[in-house]
Amino acid sequence: MTVLITGANRGIGLALFNAYKDRGEAVHGTSRAPVTEENWHQLEVTDPASHAKMCKELDCQPIDLLICNAGVYLDQSENLADGYPPQMWADTFAVNVTGVFLTIQTLLPNLQMASGAKIAIISSQMASHTRAPGGSYIYRSSKAAVLNLGRNLATDMKHIGIAVGIYHPGWVRTDMGGDQAELGVTEAAAGLVERFAHLSLETTGIFETWDGHAHAY
Ligand SMILES: NC(=O)c1ccc[n+]([C@@H]2O[C@H](COP(=O)([O-])OP(=O)(O)OC[C@H]3O[C@@H](n4cnc5c(N)ncnc54)[C@H](OP(=O)(O)O)[C@@H]3O)[C@@H](O)[C@H]2O)c1
Repeated sequence: MTVLITGANRGIGLALFNAYKDRGEAVHGTSRAPVTEENWHQLEVTDPASHAKMCKELDCQPIDLLICNAGVYLDQSENLADGYPPQMWADTFAVNVTGVFLTIQTLLPNLQMASGAKIAIISSQMASHTRAPGGSYIYRSSKAAVLNLGRNLATDMKHIGIAVGIYHPGWVRTDMGGDQAELGVTEAAAGLVERFAHLSLETTGIFETWDGHAHAY
């Protein structure tokens, strides 16, 4: 199986990269910083030219599993009275939503070359509108948008044999999740690998947690 993971240079993406590597799979990782190692690609997910360059590097290589993991959480410290500036909305959506769309669009030919390819989108429990504790409006909205994108792509891609799942990876100790988070990256990645293995055309469009629970929308 060939796997490609965006934002694989640290955090959950790196743990997923290592998990698949340990299982002997062919893993490609992307990083914004320049890369020299084999199977690593420099990718700025907001930049179409960067996608075009990666597309050339991966020409004619089937991809069985694409994991759209790269993401940002820029509005952790914003306040309602005078925070959440428009540029922060634009920057967040460019990575968390447009970046996911561009990645999938770029790699569609590679996914179609594989038989029974899958796409895993890392969203968040913060995408849920039934669970709405308030705050982080930009991040929450972007993760809700990418959940919606994933569910609609699932509908459109079913007839070409590609399954799409959307996932909450847990609250994970990374630069984004912070030191107080509940889960280590290895545990989160192990759970996600298990969930991606269960994704199929029968379950396409699911929104699931890292440990296999259906998530409330
Ligand atoms: N940690 C949690 O508790 C938690 C909970 C729910 C959902 N998530 C989601 O899980 C995913 C991974 O989170 P994490 O905790 O591992 O975050 P992280 O440690 O902050 O890592 C984020 C990764 O995304 C990459 N990235 C950011 N902007 C990018 C861009 N414009 N182009 C390409 N790559 C970019 C980063 O690259 P650089 O190193 O270049 O910045 C890094 O590799 C994210 O989608 C996040 O929203 C995390």
